[in-house]
Amino acid sequence: MKPKVFVTRIIPDEGLAMLREAADTKVWQGDLPPPHEVLLKEVREAEGLLSLLTDKIDGELMDANPGLRVISNYAVGFDNVDVAAATARRIPVGNTPGVLTETTADLAFTLLMATARRIVEGADYVRSGRWKTWGPKLLTGPDIHHATLGIIGFGRIGQSMARRARGFDMRILYYDVYRREDLESSMGVVYADLDTIFRQADFVSVHTDLNEATRHMINADALSRMKPGAVLINTARGPIVDPDALYKALAAGKIRAAALDVTEPEPIPIDSPLLKLPNCIVVPHIASASIATRARMAEMAAANVIAGLRGEKLPTCVNPEVYENREQA
Ligand code: DGY
Repeated sequence: MKPKVFVTRIIPDEGLAMLREAADTKVWQGDLPPPHEVLLKEVREAEGLLSLLTDKIDGELMDANPGLRVISNYAVGFDNVDVAAATARRIPVGNTPGVLTETTADLAFTLLMATARRIVEGADYVRSGRWKTWGPKLLTGPDIHHATLGIIGFGRIGQSMARRARGFDMRILYYDVYRREDLESSMGVVYADLDTIFRQADFVSVHTDLNEATRHMINADALSRMKPGAVLINTARGPIVDPDALYKALAAGKIRAAALDVTEPEPIPIDSPLLKLPNCIVVPHIASASIATRARMAEMAAANVIAGLRGEKLPTCVNPEVYENREQA
């Protein structure tokens, strides 16, 4: 008898094929996430769970089945999973780091360029029949080349963003709780505190994870310290930016523009005032959405499930201390 696995959405075939070979695999067929009661029911019967960032995986869910052996999140971020609760129950949790780094940085830089060069406004302008002639001041925006980019969070994705910015001869400041002196001269980046980034950057791009220290890190105070011409990009997690404060700053012209791949909440309510602003671009959490990257994420997430079912260490585990506990036990 193969062990049972529940997958909370249809993921790319590359991962599903691996799972189907190793396990009795049930896949939620809905376009929307499974309701909590469905998740509870399915977890009761499953030894492996492959979840998405839209699923809340908490202690109550884990307690639905003491036989749950692995939780594999189809994302690099795992703020949707109560990892402490999983560790306390000795359930390994997997994620998909590395494979989406370049793809996510591609989108962050795309948003930076689209916002500066007003691409969405320009396309709307043409589609709505307003393009009558070439105009000296038509849809002008700031230069990207030689501007200052402030990167908040200098992990894998922040560093990839810096590599792209170098190609545009940007001056690059970065902030992270861990200073990376080893990378500064080779990558041409300068460490700065948050205040310096807010005050000097023409573009601020957020690449940190969501935790209690970063929740609403970009709030009214931070926005008030930014340059009037500054552009904010967030491809990390929505709650890092306070949406009300951002709306006020954009509407009052305190900063020039913003582009968000992630929002608080998600999806952004259709009546959010941010959606009415021409200087705010919002896209639906698609930073890792290249065909190849999503397929690779599926393979990694499946490999984590399969390892967990076999009692092996997950190839990419966010709570490896579960193994120490096992060894000590
Ligand atoms: C992640 O993996 O955390 C992204 O937000 C979605 O790919």
